[in-house]
Amino acid sequence: MSDKLRLCEVSDVKEGEPIQVLLKQMPALAVYKVDEEIFVTDNLCTHGNAMLSDGYQEGDVIECPFHGGSFEIKTGAAKAFPCQIPIKTYPVIIEDNWVCIEEPEQVS
Ligand code: FES
Repeated sequence: MSDKLRLCEVSDVKEGEPIQVLLKQMPALAVYKVDEEIFVTDNLCTHGNAMLSDGYQEGDVIECPFHGGSFEIKTGAAKAFPCQIPIKTYPVIIEDNWVCIEEPEQVS
């Protein structure tokens, strides 16, 4: 059975201003607000060593701060070259005004 991980409060996330969340058991995560809805992806760009929360959000698209590649926030799909590998997305659960995701099953 998996537990939920609390990332941040819903009010911490502003439209167009993604934030980074670091939890010891997870890769760096980015939390976004798009049209009043919250989304979570990995924060590390799949093209290089850049954090997407340092990039530029335009609606449902996050542009990497390094080489101008971009991803669709809702699906993680790579949208602009040089990004070609999708970014991982996480289903979001809102609980008591907290942004949560399911804790991944531990592989032993
Ligand atoms: S590191 Fe993100 S586009 Fe190159």
